[in-house]
Amino acid sequence: MTNSLSSEVLARKPQRPLSLYSPKISICLLVTCVTLFVLFQIQSLPTALSPPASAPSSSTWNSLQKWKSMIISTALTLKNCTDQLDSLDSKLRESVTFLPLKDLRYAHAAQEGHTWFMSSMYDTYKKGEVQYQQFPSNSSKGRLLCIKGHDSHDGAWNSYALAWPEALPRNATLMKGLTFISNSHYNHDNLWHGLSATVPFVAWRIKNECATPSRWILYHWGELRYKMGSWLKNLMEATYSGTINIQTFEGFGDDEPVCFEKAVVMRHDEGGMSGENIMQVYDLIRCKARVYCNVSLGDNIKGRIGMTLFMRTGARSFSNESEVVRIFTEECRKVEGCQIMVAHSDNLTFCEQVQLMSSTDILISPHGAQLANLFLMDKNSSVMEFYPKGWLKLAGVGQFVYKWMTIRSGMKHQGAWRDPDGENCPYSEDGRCFLSFYKDGKIGYNETYFAEWGRNVLSEVKRKKIEESSQGRSTNNSQCMCASVSSKIRQR
Ligand SMILES: *[C@@H]1O[C@H](CO)[C@@H](O)[C@H](O)[C@H]1NC(C)=O
Ligand SMILES: *[C@@H]1O[C@H](CO)[C@@H](O)[C@H](O)[C@H]1NC(C)=O
Ligand SMILES: *[C@@H]1O[C@H](CO)[C@@H](O)[C@H](O)[C@H]1NC(C)=O
Ligand SMILES: *[C@@H]1O[C@H](CO)[C@@H](O)[C@H](O)[C@H]1NC(C)=O
Ligand SMILES: *[C@@H]1O[C@H](CO)[C@@H](O)[C@H](O)[C@H]1NC(C)=O
Ligand SMILES: *[C@@H]1O[C@H](CO)[C@@H](O)[C@H](O)[C@H]1NC(C)=O
Ligand SMILES: *[C@@H]1O[C@H](CO)[C@@H](O)[C@H](O)[C@H]1NC(C)=O
Ligand SMILES: *[C@@H]1O[C@H](CO)[C@@H](O)[C@H](O)[C@H]1NC(C)=O
Ligand SMILES: *[C@@H]1O[C@H](CO)[C@@H](O)[C@H](O)[C@H]1NC(C)=O
Repeated sequence: MTNSLSSEVLARKPQRPLSLYSPKISICLLVTCVTLFVLFQIQSLPTALSPPASAPSSSTWNSLQKWKSMIISTALTLKNCTDQLDSLDSKLRESVTFLPLKDLRYAHAAQEGHTWFMSSMYDTYKKGEVQYQQFPSNSSKGRLLCIKGHDSHDGAWNSYALAWPEALPRNATLMKGLTFISNSHYNHDNLWHGLSATVPFVAWRIKNECATPSRWILYHWGELRYKMGSWLKNLMEATYSGTINIQTFEGFGDDEPVCFEKAVVMRHDEGGMSGENIMQVYDLIRCKARVYCNVSLGDNIKGRIGMTLFMRTGARSFSNESEVVRIFTEECRKVEGCQIMVAHSDNLTFCEQVQLMSSTDILISPHGAQLANLFLMDKNSSVMEFYPKGWLKLAGVGQFVYKWMTIRSGMKHQGAWRDPDGENCPYSEDGRCFLSFYKDGKIGYNETYFAEWGRNVLSEVKRKKIEESSQGRSTNNSQCMCASVSSKIRQR
């Protein structure tokens, strides 16, 4: 793998414009020239040799003249050839056409099959596999992807084009190595949306010999973004075993095109991927995150059941946290080996979150971004989710994302509790009610319900643990997929 820093330095150095006068073409011309030459020579041979009796001096002079004019005409043809190639080269460069990254015609269907991001391109998609675009590829006819402009407010001001490597647009900079280009309809700061945007890249990596990108370029609706959230960045650094280099095009003018030696573009989430392929991605990220954070397997003592209350502050927090902690602590106390842990998502470092999830068998948490950590638990662990009033009716399908993630990552969703109590919305429109009233509401509690639910989940987990310990657990972090890359950087 190329070191990302050095390739960055390389990339920033303006490349000498590539020309059509590649060695191949020169050889081609030479061959043409020699062929012409030989043809002319054969034609002139009889004239030079047939009349042996006539004056030799005049004949020699004649043939010399012929040779001279032949050489001149060949040179002229060659010059003409070169001029024409030159003009062709110039035409090819000029014909590279930039289109806006964000195509407003598809604004109404931005998330559907044909997104407004690079709308003239089709994805490569095989059923169940990741949906992506790759440049150069057969479908780009060997052309590279070029991007111009780096507006962070309106994606319609940024543009893209395809160009043959021999005829890149004028003044283009060629960036070496592999570039990942991610367009998210949401953002790369939020844990859930950021993870959704990066899962396809990890899936592509698994299918492509664990290739590691030299740089990432992030877009939201075609608008350039300069960073990903720190949780996601850590997660990707763990997954790719190295620093994540986000290209911000600093120092590039708006009219300076940048072309990529190799680029992979994702504008959809994992939607089209099969359960098996998504599970493989989560397995890889989990394994790499644990290696990155030095989580030791010894942490999980036989027969221990980790029950974690993963709390939020502010929006969608429990209105009476201490009561919720008390109820679950009491249930936990009744079960041998059960250990309760209470943590707040907003004051844990990335590795503390990985550590916590690695020792959690039952995750108890309100609906919210902190739940994106759930796939970091051992497979078959349990999730118990909580919602404030008003969500079921008004929140749309998005409220089920953590249930889907639980299932896709091989965990068990133990159901959800929805607070039936709370004030009623004072507005008449549903949309307004959800966004400005229910969305960030607090969550109450029902002692009877929580205690019974907790008891049932605990007894199921306990039963499973006993089965597992008789079979011997197979969890092993030391052998992640794509481990060979990591071993270079992080010897264990
Ligand atoms: C060069 O090519 C052009 C166009 O094919 C032709 O018109 C012209 O006569 C050529 N010149 C020579 C010197 O061959
Ligand atoms: C690209 O096309 C070539 C020649 O047609 C073929 O051999 C190759 O398998 C194709 N590659 C892919 C990835 O489809
Ligand atoms: C290329 O760069 C040169 C100097 O930086 C500039 O004068 C010229 O206009 C540029 N050409 C194009 C096509 O942008
Ligand atoms: C993991 O261990 C390595 C080597 O012992 C150390 O360099 C690294 O800082 C540790 N990482 C964390 C997150 O503790
Ligand atoms: C939480 O509930 C308990 C028991 O009903 C009560 O004593 C306590 O004051 C409540 N705390 C808050 C912050 O409402
Ligand atoms: C974490 O945050 C919670 C609530 O914001 C606070 O009570 C707790 O003391 C914090 N813990 C640490 C270790 O900072
Ligand atoms: C998860 O549980 C199921 C049945 O409860 C079992 O067949 C499977 O092997 C378990 N998977 C892991 C990874 O422990
Ligand atoms: C609490 O939950 C129990 C058990 O599901 C239910 O019977 C009871 O009505 C609930 N209490 C309230 C106040 O909702
Ligand atoms: C994990 O797997 C590696 C290689 O397959 C093996 O050497 C090691 O002993 C295993 N560790 C555990 C705890 O099973």
